[in-house]
Amino acid sequence: MSRRPVIAGNWKMHNLQQEAMDLTNGIMQELRSEDKAALPEVVIAPTFTALYAANKALTDCGCGKVKLAAQNCYFETKGAFTGECSVEMLKDAGCEYIIIGHSERREYFGETDEMVNKKAKAILANGLIPIICCGESLEQREAGVTDYHIASQITKALRELSAEDVTKSIIAYEPIWAIGTGKTCDSIEANRVIAMIRNVVKGLYDANTSDAIRILYGGSVKPSTIKEQMAQSDIDGALVGGASLTADSFAQIVKGAM
Ligand code: PGA
Repeated sequence: MSRRPVIAGNWKMHNLQQEAMDLTNGIMQELRSEDKAALPEVVIAPTFTALYAANKALTDCGCGKVKLAAQNCYFETKGAFTGECSVEMLKDAGCEYIIIGHSERREYFGETDEMVNKKAKAILANGLIPIICCGESLEQREAGVTDYHIASQITKALRELSAEDVTKSIIAYEPIWAIGTGKTCDSIEANRVIAMIRNVVKGLYDANTSDAIRILYGGSVKPSTIKEQMAQSDIDGALVGGASLTADSFAQIVKGAM
């Protein structure tokens, strides 16, 4: 089964509107001579306030090579939830993907496995694609509970989702100790954990579903690391933080995944 690679840029809390527009245009400029069919699925995730600017740049270009994601959503459809954005609102803003369960949201904003599951359901019900993040802390890795912890996060995130919905979803394995530290997880080990996640999906669903779901690696991905990561059997792409903030390095990562 061949899975289309995905390279997603998580801009985190960076970029004012003009900067978002410039970065989006810069990425498309870097990718202008690439054949769209040969590219991986390329996704950028600006902050809420920069979605309009990034979407405008993408729409004006019209090349369809880059898709828009949000970094978070709320699972309710509308109502008295001050400060939140529903999936429908993000779809209206041009998003086709939504990142959920990022370790920073879990750590600083109290996002639980149950919330991740509710968000995944809301995203899929609206026809968007969830990018479901999981990953262990350094303490968990040192205590030898990495696989147990990640299997539990994935099982809870996918609770009550149909096989069809899971097939459309994307998982991102991001060891917390590798995020923003410059310390990439060894590719063989990242591949081992990702194959383990695929096996968890197989146990919950079936081989067709586990063969189809795209599973990305995230954590200090750079232009210099992507080729080795993509050469692994089970790594289907990358969720990129720091290196997605300049057009040149992000485009190099995209091209490294071709
Ligand atoms: P990083 O972030 O590439 O800066 O390590 C990855 C992420 O948090 O998604």
